[in-house]
Amino acid sequence: MAEQLGDWVRTHTCGALRTTDLDTDATLLGWVHRVRDLGGVLFIDIRDREGISQVVFRDNDALLAQAKKLRPEFVVGVKGLVERRSPETVNAKLATGDVEVLAREMRILNEAKTPPFQIAEDSPVSEDVRLKYRYLDLRRPRLQGNIGLRHKVAFAIREEFNRNGFWEIETPILTKSTPEGARDYLVPSRVHPGEFYALPQSPQIFKQILMIGGMDRYFQITRCFRDEDLRADRQPEFTQVDVEISFASPDLVYGLIEPVIQRIFACIGKTVPAPFRRMPYAEAMAKYGSDKPDLRFGLEIHDVSPAFADSEFRVFKQIVADGGVIRGFAVPGGNKYTRNQIDGIVDLAKQIGFGGLIWVRPGEPPTSSVKALSEGSLRAAIAGIGAGADDLVLLAGGPADNTSQLLGQLRLAIAKRENLLDPEKFELLWVTDFPLLEWSGEDGRWYSMHHPFTSPLDEDMDKLESDPGAVRAKAYDLVLNGSEIGGGSIRIHSAEMQARIFKRLGISDEEAKLRFGFFLEALEYGTPPHGGIALGLDRICAILANESSIREVIAFPKTATAVDLMADAPSTVDQKQLRELHLRTTK
Ligand code: AMO
Repeated sequence: MAEQLGDWVRTHTCGALRTTDLDTDATLLGWVHRVRDLGGVLFIDIRDREGISQVVFRDNDALLAQAKKLRPEFVVGVKGLVERRSPETVNAKLATGDVEVLAREMRILNEAKTPPFQIAEDSPVSEDVRLKYRYLDLRRPRLQGNIGLRHKVAFAIREEFNRNGFWEIETPILTKSTPEGARDYLVPSRVHPGEFYALPQSPQIFKQILMIGGMDRYFQITRCFRDEDLRADRQPEFTQVDVEISFASPDLVYGLIEPVIQRIFACIGKTVPAPFRRMPYAEAMAKYGSDKPDLRFGLEIHDVSPAFADSEFRVFKQIVADGGVIRGFAVPGGNKYTRNQIDGIVDLAKQIGFGGLIWVRPGEPPTSSVKALSEGSLRAAIAGIGAGADDLVLLAGGPADNTSQLLGQLRLAIAKRENLLDPEKFELLWVTDFPLLEWSGEDGRWYSMHHPFTSPLDEDMDKLESDPGAVRAKAYDLVLNGSEIGGGSIRIHSAEMQARIFKRLGISDEEAKLRFGFFLEALEYGTPPHGGIALGLDRICAILANESSIREVIAFPKTATAVDLMADAPSTVDQKQLRELHLRTTK
């Protein structure tokens, strides 16, 4: 039977007691973490968010008898005297490990069923069970730490933006579709039969309208909703630190965001130097085969096509003659690999999708997996890649983008195998000058690489119609250790340019009016130049907490199939509710 708390008030958290509290009275409230029953003496560890304290029951038969009823996860209140622990029971691993509370009174505030997994031990539990009993998982140190860290990060972000004159402004959740490239979650309207709200994929249009509304500097820590295929770093609802700035240039954005990132890192006691590195998209793709390169390690890709223009090896010669490239990178220390190890790398490359991968061992003379390659070509390739005598050179040929992308994936896979992904290292990078548009062969049309409100680079504007693929955008991503933690751009602030972009995207005037008419109209009433960014709070917290999935930093995440296992959502609703919403299901 649960007892009432009555007039008991916590005097200390379970993590607070120290030797400076000796001989004082303490009232602790928390969960029974562990019980050790030695017969005439019984110890419990009592736990709350702040830590663990040891309580001892002895010299009081009635109280001892009551304590013998305690089981893990019971909720208790204990009043007692803070004592020094006997030397053999001092626990150096606990902040409270020098003291214990000699219980004088106890209230069992609630009982608990035996949990499906232990809270006190970090025993392996399937993620499905953890998600179903999330409230128990949240009691364990891993999630207590992660959720606490997330709070600290969010708080630091708010302080930093406030310091720089940003206002936190809420934008609607029941709204109209914003194009961010995913499917919308729709909410049927009861009072407008057959009509739907869309949940925001981001507050993009609203934050731009806030700039038109003279709000000057806006930020919001807000939920976004995207019905897309999920991965470890994607959730159907996730949190953005959304930012918009009037009269912004990319440099102004970087200058205001970098201190925010520095404050975030301070939450884990790390210093990251600013300004962050910057790299145009084209360079990132060529050197790292990725628009989000992990710069914690080298393995840079180099173009060595000229070394093979006149090659005896016909495959490479032909690739170069056809306008393709020969590119590769050096694996540090790889020259000592056995043939078996090298075959392992070649297999890895095949799994990634390489048609062929050629290896070269520097040496006197250099040797290679292809006999037809002359010593001259090999030496030129080794020099072009900058490989040392101890390295192993890997080469592949084909169309430029495809070759770099495959090498980029191989680069990452080898870095993983060689343990080059140091979790203590944090490499931040602005990737700039993204292409404005990308061509979809399948749909036979251009799509925005970011979203259709992104401004082209001034010097590329005249190519919008003649060479759309070559137009670069005033768009930037923030990359941390190979993960995209933010993306933004300077926006189009003229109605004519916005209309021109919609046209380029094959969006007719009618469709543009239907979807974004209110925004296009707003653009005509004195829109200041503006730009911004959105940071992925979940991804940032996951990296800071050294977690490989963002689910570990979200209190109530969904599974990879977008299910909330605890609340059992989504779920069916009754017919009456459907009728009210003017809906009929076909299933
Ligand atoms: P973008 O779509 O790049 O930009 O999103 C910004 C950042 O949000 C994070 N993110 C996600 N995190 C978890 N789960 C998801 N499904 C998910 N999708 C995105 C990423 C990403 O970098 N309106 C623009 C921003 C702007 O232009 O200002 C936008 O939403 O870390």
